[in-house]
Amino acid sequence: MLRAGATELARRLGASWERPLLMSGGEHRVAELLQARSPVYEALGGRLETEGRRLGAIVDEAVARYRSSARAGPLRLEIACGGEAPTRVIVGDGAISESASALRDALPGARRAAVVADGAVIASHAADVSEVLRAAGIEPVGPFGLPPGEAAKHVDVLATLWDRFHEAGLDPSAAVVAVGGGAALDVAGFAAATYARGIRLVNVPTTVLAMADAAVGGKVAIDHAGAKNLVGVFHPAVLVIADTSTCATLPPAVRRQGLAEIVKCLVLIAPTALEVAADASLAWGIEQALRAKAAFVSADPRDRGIRRALNLGHTFAHAIESASGHTVAHGDAVAIGLVAAARLGARLGMCDAALADRVATVLEHLGLPTAAPALDPSLLRRALAADKKRAGGAVRFIVPAPGGAALVSGVDAGAALGSLRP
Ligand SMILES: NC(=O)c1ccc[n+]([C@@H]2O[C@H](COP(=O)([O-])OP(=O)(O)OC[C@H]3O[C@@H](n4cnc5c(N)ncnc54)[C@H](O)[C@@H]3O)[C@@H](O)[C@H]2O)c1
Ligand SMILES: [Zn+2]
Repeated sequence: MLRAGATELARRLGASWERPLLMSGGEHRVAELLQARSPVYEALGGRLETEGRRLGAIVDEAVARYRSSARAGPLRLEIACGGEAPTRVIVGDGAISESASALRDALPGARRAAVVADGAVIASHAADVSEVLRAAGIEPVGPFGLPPGEAAKHVDVLATLWDRFHEAGLDPSAAVVAVGGGAALDVAGFAAATYARGIRLVNVPTTVLAMADAAVGGKVAIDHAGAKNLVGVFHPAVLVIADTSTCATLPPAVRRQGLAEIVKCLVLIAPTALEVAADASLAWGIEQALRAKAAFVSADPRDRGIRRALNLGHTFAHAIESASGHTVAHGDAVAIGLVAAARLGARLGMCDAALADRVATVLEHLGLPTAAPALDPSLLRRALAADKKRAGGAVRFIVPAPGGAALVSGVDAGAALGSLRP
C-alpha cells in the first residue's frame, strides 16, 4: 500500500469530477475517507511511505521489498483449470526440495506415485523428485525414462508407460509425477489421463517453456500421423512444481524458446512492464507468465473463447514454422510472430504504433529473432490457408488490444503477411 497524508492526497487529487466522493469537502473530506478506510488499508499490509519522497526512491524501495519477499520462499498460486480442484502451483528456485507438504496436500490418500522423466533429467531432477516424494510419505515408483524431447510424444511411448504402470501394480489411488520439458509433460500427462480411467497428475517442468506454458492449463497430447498434438485430452495437474533452478542446465537455444512465451504473456497482461523483462530474473518472468495463464485459463478452461488470447503471435508463428520446413524453432517463430501481430494490431488501430518496436527491443535483448527469414510467400500463404481451413473458413489473428488482445478475422492474407516486415 502506498501511503500519503490527507493534505498531500488532496493536493494530488485536486477537485476531480471523476471522483464523486470528493466533489465537496476538499482536504477535510479526504481525511474523513482516509480514517474510515484505514483499517482496510492496514489489513492489506506492506505499507510504503510516499510523502515527500522522489518517485525513483519509492520504486527502488518497492523493488527491494519485492526481491526480499521473493527470496523468502517459492511463490504459491492456485489456478482454476477446469479440473475438480484448482491446480496448485509452486514457483521459484529450490521449489522441488520445498514441496513435500504441498505433495501431501495435493495427493490425499496416495501411497505411491510413478515418476516419469525426460531422459535428460532422469539422473538429476527426477532423483530429487523421488526424494521429496519419500519425504512426503509417498513411495516413488520408477523413474521411468522417456526419449528426450518431442520423440516422447509417440503412441508407442505412451503404451510402454501403460505397461510399466500395470507391471508396477499402480491402482487408481496412485499418481503420475511428470518431470521434464513440455514434451515429457504432454506424454506423461496423457498416460495419467488414460491409465485406470485417469489418475492424478503432478507436473515438474524443467524447461522455461514448460514452466511458462505447458505445465499449467490441462492440455495433454501426443503427435500422430505426422500431425503435432493430434490426439489429446484435458487433464489438469493437481500440483505444478516449477523449480527455476532446474533451467540452469538448459542449452541456451532451448532456454530462449521459452522466453518468447514469457514476452507474449507480458504483452497480454502487463505491456507497460515489457522493458522490465529485459533484466528481470527468470523466476519473475515465469511468475508473470503463470499469472497470465491463470487469468485466461480460469476464465475459459476449455479454450473456446478468451483463452485463445494466449495464441498471440501464433498464427504468424505456425505459418513461419511450416513455410520454413520446421527449421525455425517454435519460440523463435513466436518472437517474430509477436512483432508482426503488434504491427498488424497498430495497422488495424487496435494498439499503440510504438508497441511493435518495444516488443522487438525486448526480444532482441533476450537473444530472440524479430525479423522473418526469407521464405517463399506461396508457402506462407499455403500455411495460412491450412490454418483457415482448421479454423472453419477464416484466418484469425490475435492482436494486442486494450484489455489484452482481440481476435480479428477477415484480414486479407497479403495484408497479414505485410506485417512480417516493418
Ligand atoms: N500441453 C500444453 O499446453 C503445451 C503448451 C506448450 C507447448 N507444449 C508442448 O511442449 C513441447 C515443447 O516443450 P519444450 O520447449 O519444453 O521442449 P522439450 O520438452 O522438447 O525439451 C527440449 C529439450 O530440452 C531437454 N531438457 C529438458 N529439461 C532439461 C534440463 N533441465 N536441462 C537440460 N536439458 C533439458 C529435453 O531432453 C529436450 O532435448 C512441444 O511438444 C509442445 O507441443 C504443450
Ligand atoms: Zn507457443
